[in-house]
Amino acid sequence: MSQKKKETVCGESRTPSLNINLGEKYRDLPIFIYKTIDSTNLRAKLYAKEHPGERAVFIAEEQTMGRGRLGRSFDSKAGLGLYLSILLEGGTCASDAIGITTYMGTVAKDAIEEEAPLDVKIKWVNDLFVGGRKLGGILTEGGIDPETGKLLYSVTGIGINILDREFPEELRDIATSIEGECGKKVDTGAIASNIITKFLDSLHLVGTREIVDKYRRASFIIGKAVRVIKGTSTYPAYVDGIDDSCRLILTLDDGTREILSTGEVSIRPVNLN
Ligand code: BTN
Repeated sequence: MSQKKKETVCGESRTPSLNINLGEKYRDLPIFIYKTIDSTNLRAKLYAKEHPGERAVFIAEEQTMGRGRLGRSFDSKAGLGLYLSILLEGGTCASDAIGITTYMGTVAKDAIEEEAPLDVKIKWVNDLFVGGRKLGGILTEGGIDPETGKLLYSVTGIGINILDREFPEELRDIATSIEGECGKKVDTGAIASNIITKFLDSLHLVGTREIVDKYRRASFIIGKAVRVIKGTSTYPAYVDGIDDSCRLILTLDDGTREILSTGEVSIRPVNLN
């Protein structure tokens, strides 16, 4: 059944590619679809403050201030990608922000692979990769009650490059799209519907061994030489694995072991000499 009853279309007409269909089970879930918005994560956070304890979904055809981790921007051109945020009420799984990000990674991998013949990999901690280039990213944000320190809500945003395009010079070697990789157009609405349904259907798995194992199998940095990026400093390391809390287990060049729970790594090119 179509989602039309509860769906709110904001802005001008939407493209047919954003036909969201979640079936009967989620017919009461508010879904807001915007033609253009600053950021679906920002919009979801505003909504959370006005509607405590509610779930909702926010999708945009274009974001003017798409945001990534570590204060970066996320290229969100009109109609070329999926820009989606899911708002969850506070509670056990909402308080596990890293767990939700890794969970969303595995959900998105499955959802994309059902729609396109791709092998989607996950680069710790929040990036989706295909063929060594970035296909998308995940940004989980939360609102904290200053008195109790508990998470009031979580917003998990995901951006996926769907259609092929000429990437800007600086992204050409590091970014890709679903269409660019498999050579066929995929339905953005179908991918969005698949991600939302899978995400909501199995929330009880957030933080479980099952997800961590799946996340490890999808990781393509285990066993690789990387550079750890911390603020303005970087240093080389080798990735031994990912622990049960989804932290990166590293060995540094001097043999010391480091466990990284946040931050970023980049793959070190293989020295061919
Ligand atoms: C990253 O690459 O570091 C994460 C990118 C997350 C982008 C998505 S797009 C939908 C949602 N709204 C945002 O502003 N960001 C997330």
